[in-house]
Amino acid sequence: MMTIKKCLFPVAGFGTRFLPATKAVPKEMLPIVTKPLIQYGVEEAMSAMIDEMAFVTGKNKRAIEDHFDINYELENAISGTEKETLIESTRNIINNCSFVYKRQTEMLGLGHAILIGEAMIGSEPFAVILPDDLCFGSELSVIDQMVKLYEQYNCSVIAIEEVPREETHRYGVIAGEEESAGIFRVSDMVEKPSVDVAPSNLAIIGRYVLTPDIFPILKNTPPGKNNELQITDALRTQAKEGNVIGYKFKGQRFDCGSIEGFIEATNFVYSKIKV
Ligand code: UTP
Repeated sequence: MMTIKKCLFPVAGFGTRFLPATKAVPKEMLPIVTKPLIQYGVEEAMSAMIDEMAFVTGKNKRAIEDHFDINYELENAISGTEKETLIESTRNIINNCSFVYKRQTEMLGLGHAILIGEAMIGSEPFAVILPDDLCFGSELSVIDQMVKLYEQYNCSVIAIEEVPREETHRYGVIAGEEESAGIFRVSDMVEKPSVDVAPSNLAIIGRYVLTPDIFPILKNTPPGKNNELQITDALRTQAKEGNVIGYKFKGQRFDCGSIEGFIEATNFVYSKIKV
């Protein structure tokens, strides 16, 4: 079994719900208090001993590359002052990780973005983090919990969360058997089902560990909901073979792709750092 060394961040989306803020600034660079969303995602990957970060980016996303690069002018300006500590966390990331970027030139869906990542991932299992789902694990980080589960089951692992029935149309939703507490063998899944056809209220959130056979499957998957290539449809092919585990993670998730979730996350983080 191969260990997980790489994390893919599909960050090509326009973030239209945050316009006009996201007109020139990537959604992933919006801060939750003082740290941009993308940095929380990268730190979560690092907590699972992952040190190769791969980004699927698009137009207007250059600020992400700049964020994970050294800014000598700035560092010189604050060197020796008390402000120096404020960029220690980014410096630590830059010193310990490698970064690669590839552009998705057309917005053809999350599945398509992940397929673009193949050139950076190769034929090994990998993690996927959607930074707009901001997760705080109760002990281990959510992706670390999932990597450990992958090591146990040796198949794809997707994070799931119970949502109110009337919200299933916003998520991919699974059907499956609970094998042990919080661990489901997924048998089927549907992208954004209406409440009357949703197979459960267990929604897929933005954390995955995927086996590399997902790439050829994605290539053979036709566009689905909204005419986009859906990762859910490709995962369903793996699920039919019994190769997907749904995991009710231990911790909390904030949907920072929505305004309410973003504000909740901001209040949550601020309440933790304010003494
Ligand atoms: P969203 O559905 O949240 O879309 O994508 P979005 O563009 O980011 O935000 P809104 O809805 O316009 O406000 C979920 C995730 O999938 C990535 C996005 O970057 C986000 O992380 N994605 C989606 C891509 O990278 N490429 C795509 O073609 C679609």
